[in-house]
Amino acid sequence: MLSTDDHVEGALADGVVRMDRQQYRGKHYQVPIFDSAGPVILTPDPARARFARDPEQPVLRSLNGTWDLAQFLRPRKPVSLGALDDAEIAIFARPGVTRVLDMPIKFPDLAEYRLPRALAQLAPTLQRIIDVEHTVNPDHVEYHAYLTIDQGWVHPDSLHREAPCHVDGFQGARWHPRCRTNHSYTVSDVLPTAYYLQPFDFTGLDERVHDYFWEMNAQVADTDGAHAWWPAPAEITLMDCYCVHRGVEADARTFRTWMRLSFEERRRVFDRLGNAHNPLFDYAWEMVERDIEALHLRPFREDCDPSLRVFPWQALDGTALPPGTPKTKPALRPSFSPSSGARDRRP
Ligand SMILES: [Fe+2]
Repeated sequence: MLSTDDHVEGALADGVVRMDRQQYRGKHYQVPIFDSAGPVILTPDPARARFARDPEQPVLRSLNGTWDLAQFLRPRKPVSLGALDDAEIAIFARPGVTRVLDMPIKFPDLAEYRLPRALAQLAPTLQRIIDVEHTVNPDHVEYHAYLTIDQGWVHPDSLHREAPCHVDGFQGARWHPRCRTNHSYTVSDVLPTAYYLQPFDFTGLDERVHDYFWEMNAQVADTDGAHAWWPAPAEITLMDCYCVHRGVEADARTFRTWMRLSFEERRRVFDRLGNAHNPLFDYAWEMVERDIEALHLRPFREDCDPSLRVFPWQALDGTALPPGTPKTKPALRPSFSPSSGARDRRP
């Protein structure tokens, strides 16, 4: 069910015309409608790219490859682009940025990125990212770039974006023939995402039947989360669709700004209801309801810890949690976390 409501709580950022409200299957989204005046146009400049390039890194080696489950057997660390400095953080994390989900800011066959002016504070960080992208990816013309920005308070013992261990760009039963793989740049000013640098073996799983993310939970729990690695705060990293990750809980109430720029090949149109529309491009996708719950997948290990095989909005018995109840977290048994003061960044 879709409902649209022009009523807005709080002030709109300059460049936001209104907020549309959408909901389906109990999920609620506020989708900004952007003004097309005064856009920020970014042009990549590989000559300015700043990063320590090691072409042997698995993420760079498999860029532009097609989806291959065997790649999960090889642990892979995200590629670092270095951290934002204090001046860059002050701009990137300025309070009041408008939240968007998977909004295209680049289309295939175009080499420029178009940003509504309401998101101008992200431009310097995006420039660093696209300078690198156009250095490492000779096939950039094949790709969309989708922007997600989320800013807000993270409450103690909860995640900014509640999720199991997962990857971005999983190609399930819907994607045949297989597509080129997703690669995504992410950065957060605080509470960096945890990555699990270990092999994942999906022998015996069936993509039409089993939830692979629950099995990722289970395999991380098998190792007590011992292979977790975190970037530094404000460190920009490049991951691909084989980098298993999950957000980390806050110890105290924390204001966090997190951004992702995902590169997806031309067939991968992100037409999910709730995603923002970019008025700086001429396109009209029919937006549809789409979520993993509708696939009715099952855990591969039916007898694993119940917390590893339910959605965050479900209690351990699978029933829906009442609104306002803390989300269910997978019991990954991590031995420490960056927010608890540990400085270890294994391995
Ligand atoms: Fe993710």
